[in-house]
Amino acid sequence: MKSTTDRRSFFKKAAVLAGAFSSNSLFEQLHAADILAKNRQYVSLSPQEMAENEDFWATIQQGYPASSSPVLNLNNGGVSPSPLLVLQAVDRYSQLSNQAPSYYMWRILDQGREPLRQKLALLGGCDPDELAINRNATEALNTIIYGLDLQKGDEVIGCKQDYPNMMQAWKQREQREGIRYKQLSFDFPIEDDETIVEAYRQAISPKTKIIHVTHVINWVGQIMPVRKICQMAHEKGLEVIVDGAHSFGLLNFQIPDLEADYFGTSLHKYLSAPIGTGMLWIKKEKISKVWPLLCNGNPKSEDIRKFETLGTRSFPLEQGIGEAVNFHNGIGAERKEARVRYLKNYWAEQALGIPGVNIHTSLQPAYSCAIAGVSVDGLSPQELERQLLGTYKIHTTPISYENIHCVRVSPHVYTRLTDLDRLVAALGELSAAHSSQPLGQKGT
Ligand SMILES: Cc1ncc(COP(=O)(O)O)c(C=O)c1O
Repeated sequence: MKSTTDRRSFFKKAAVLAGAFSSNSLFEQLHAADILAKNRQYVSLSPQEMAENEDFWATIQQGYPASSSPVLNLNNGGVSPSPLLVLQAVDRYSQLSNQAPSYYMWRILDQGREPLRQKLALLGGCDPDELAINRNATEALNTIIYGLDLQKGDEVIGCKQDYPNMMQAWKQREQREGIRYKQLSFDFPIEDDETIVEAYRQAISPKTKIIHVTHVINWVGQIMPVRKICQMAHEKGLEVIVDGAHSFGLLNFQIPDLEADYFGTSLHKYLSAPIGTGMLWIKKEKISKVWPLLCNGNPKSEDIRKFETLGTRSFPLEQGIGEAVNFHNGIGAERKEARVRYLKNYWAEQALGIPGVNIHTSLQPAYSCAIAGVSVDGLSPQELERQLLGTYKIHTTPISYENIHCVRVSPHVYTRLTDLDRLVAALGELSAAHSSQPLGQKGT
């Protein structure tokens, strides 16, 4: 961990660079004045008070074309739309790239990668030399999963409620190399950190080397006590990989504060960066021992950039990330988390009051933010999702997996209260129509 003075001087330096890069930004041109005016108007409001201030959020909603989509998108957990300024930035970079691709991409846009790294590092509260920019959370986390040396018989502990792409990667190592992949199973919601930490602790054996944990469980939105799991694991000499796909750009935290060893995330979820962008963080002293997933001339290098030998990739998408960070910073991380949690509670608390409607997620702030699972008695998750889309034009995602059976709902900062009223009304009608029926009898 850096000393406070080191950290302070690093942040000062990085702030200058990030500021210089964004001085001509689309954010400055399109949103800075409006957001600044609202900030001045509501300077005395806490993030929690601001979460309920529709006047402020109307300004943010206007920034997103998705706020006027004919289909109400309540699956932002899957992938989130970008605000207009991000789409415009990508479009500009794309037009430029197509003038003379190898010149504009490799000689001009490529120069934006280091300032972008600085900017993402400021957002994540970490050293830029610990951050690699890539295409998604799967790529980031598979880089770690396949990049760590493990011997036959070594154990990794995860859980059945982790993300399939990561579970499959561990299973592939199990088949190919004979490592052992142990999976816990949790009955969410759980409103007690110790129960979760203890489950991982109990699973540890002398052969265990790694714990893989998902920061926010994608199926039902449970926030896991990552830091406590990391502290427990480190006491036992283990390393921890954190899947932050649903937390980065939503929960207000700094990556080093999790005390993990490795962290991977998409940027196209709650950060609203261009679709097809992601990020990998590795604690400085661990970088050299992780093999790159894709080739690199110096695979044991301590330079995080060894994970960026991706071949030709989309420079326009990558450079569009900067405007998404500008927009996110314009809102403010604390406000964003508070608002999205408020939106989730707004609909979920009303839904709880409807007979025959069940919520599958804790509504306590420590245990969930954007995502909640919902079910209606008498309707399977698939039937409920079909009805919401077919009859009400509300897009959600059905989940029937292991011990989880619900429809996942995930609003974003551009979601309006009236959108959520539409959802609650739909749940009320569907419940009234179906809840006296045994499951599956009424169908669609
Ligand atoms: C918990 C979790 N991890 C990883 C991913 C994979 O993200 P990506 O599609 O960006 O690779 C997802 C996607 O939904 C997820 O929910």
